[in-house]
Amino acid sequence: MSVTQSKPEAMFINGEWTEGSSSNRIPVCDPSSEEVIAEIPDASVADVDAAVAAARHAFDQGGWPQTTAQERGRILFRIAEKIRAEAPQLAELESRNTGKPIVEAEFDIADAATCFEYYGGLATKVSGLVNPVPDNALSLSLKEPVGVAGQIIPWNYPLLMAAWKLAPALAAGCACVLKPAEQTPLTALKLAGWLGECGVPPGVINIVTGLGETAGARIVEHPHVDKIAFTGSAAVGKLIMKSAADTLKRVTLELGGKSPNIFFADADFEAAIDGALFGVFINQGEVCSAGSRVLVERSIYPKFVEAMTEKARSIKLGPPLDRDTKMGPLVSREQYDRVCKYQEIGKSEAKVAIGGGQPASFGRGYYVEPTIFYDVDNSARIAREEIFGPVAAVIPFDDEADALKIANDTPFGLAAAVWSRDIYRALRMVKAIRAGIVWVNHMQPTYVEAPWGGYKQSGFGRELGVHGIDEYLETKQVHINLNEQPIGWY
Ligand code: NAI
Ligand code: MG
Repeated sequence: MSVTQSKPEAMFINGEWTEGSSSNRIPVCDPSSEEVIAEIPDASVADVDAAVAAARHAFDQGGWPQTTAQERGRILFRIAEKIRAEAPQLAELESRNTGKPIVEAEFDIADAATCFEYYGGLATKVSGLVNPVPDNALSLSLKEPVGVAGQIIPWNYPLLMAAWKLAPALAAGCACVLKPAEQTPLTALKLAGWLGECGVPPGVINIVTGLGETAGARIVEHPHVDKIAFTGSAAVGKLIMKSAADTLKRVTLELGGKSPNIFFADADFEAAIDGALFGVFINQGEVCSAGSRVLVERSIYPKFVEAMTEKARSIKLGPPLDRDTKMGPLVSREQYDRVCKYQEIGKSEAKVAIGGGQPASFGRGYYVEPTIFYDVDNSARIAREEIFGPVAAVIPFDDEADALKIANDTPFGLAAAVWSRDIYRALRMVKAIRAGIVWVNHMQPTYVEAPWGGYKQSGFGRELGVHGIDEYLETKQVHINLNEQPIGWY
C-alpha cells in the first residue's frame, strides 16, 4: 500500500493515538478501485466521551483559552506551513480517498492552508466593544471562546472542511472534537500527526473516527460539548438540531442545496456554457453549492442546451490521479447508488441530453456519466431534491420575474448565480434571491475572507471570514460602576 498515514489504525485523543475501546474497524476505500486502503477505529460512546473529557480539560484546566491570541495565531501559521510543505502527499491521499481529480485536490489542500493562515491572522483582531450606556458606568462587551466545539464534517472536501471548522475554533480559543466522515478520514488523521510539532497542546484538537449514528450522535448529545458545527445532509442537520436541544447547545449547520445557476440571453455565451458545466460538474457534482438547477432564458434555450451538451462530451472521466482527469468516481457505493437512482428518476421526469448512466469503460470504481436533463419542470424530484452528483436539471424561463420565481421556489437557499451583462438586472436578482451566497457571472469561487452559509433549509450560521470566528465566541457584558455611593434604594 503506497498510501500510509501516521497511524492507520488509530484516532487522536488527548495528543495520543488510540485504537479505541471497540474492536470494530471501518474500512476506508479508494473509490476508483473499490479497494480498502486503510481501516479506522469505529469510535464507541466511551471513546467519544474520552475525547470530550480531553477537550474539556484542555479548555477548563489546561490553559488553552488563556494562551495569548498571538500564540494561537503562531500555532495556526505553523499548521498552515506544515500543510503547504506536505501538500503533494496530502493531495494524493485526498484524491485517492475521495475520487476527486488530483488537480482539484491540490487546490483543496492549498485552500486548507490558506484557511489556517487567515484565522492565524484573525486571532489577534478579535476585540470587544465599549457600549455607550448612560452616566456613571462603563459598559464593555468581551469576546470569549464558547468552550468545547463538536465538529462533524462530510466527505466531499475532507481536509478543507476540517480546516473551516478547526481554524476559527482554535483562533477563538476553543477546544475541539472533530469527527471526519467515515468514508474519508485519512487527511485529517495525517494532520493530527503534526499537531504536536506545530504547538497544539494535547486535548485541544481531538479527532474521533466513527460512524455518524453512533460517534456523531454522541458528540451532539454530550452534556460537556458547548457547540456543534455540522456540514452535511439536511436530514442529519434536523436530527442534530433536535438532539442538541436537550442540552441547548449552540448549533451551526451548513446543509445541502439545489442552487439555481441562472442564464439570461445577454450573458456572454461561451462563458455561460463554461459556467453552467463548472457549476454542476466540479468535484463530480459532490458540492453543497452545486449549480444543479440550470435556469436558461427561453430565447437562447435550445442553443444553450445543445452547446452545453456538446461541451460536456469533452469532460474526461478517469482515474483520480491522472492529471488530465476532469471527473473521477463518486466517493462511495452508497453515493453511487443514490446518483444512479436519480438518473433513473430523471429519465421518467425529463429528457436526457447526455449521460444518464455509468460508463462501461472502467470495469470497476464508482463512476457515473456527467448527466444533463432538460425540459425539467421545477416541481420534478430532480429539481427539488439534492442529488450530490454530476446531474444537471436544465429549466427554461420566460423573463426576469419567471426566473426569480423558479429560483426561489425551493426549500433550500445556499447559493445562486446570475449571468447577465445588464448590471441593473443582475443586481435586482442579487437582492431578490433568497440564498446565502450569490455569484454574478461566475459560479463556485470561494474565498476564506468571505462568509459562507445558507438561508432556509440550507442551514444557519456562517463560516469563513470574520463571521466564521464569531460562531465560536460568546459575548460577555461587563458593567463597571463609576459611582462609589450606595445604591440608596432601601
Ligand atoms: P451525512 O449528512 O449523513 O454525513 C455527514 C456527516 O455527518 C458525516 O461525518 C456523518 O458521519 C455524520 N452523521 C451522519 N449521521 C449522523 C447523526 N445521526 N448524528 C451526527 N452525525 C451524523 O451525509 P451522507 O449520508 O454521507 O450523504 C447523504 C447526502 O447528504 C448526500 O447525497 C448529499 O445530498 C448530502 N450531503 C451534503 C453535504 C454538504 O456539504 N452539504 C455533504 C455530504 C452529504
Ligand atoms: Mg448519512
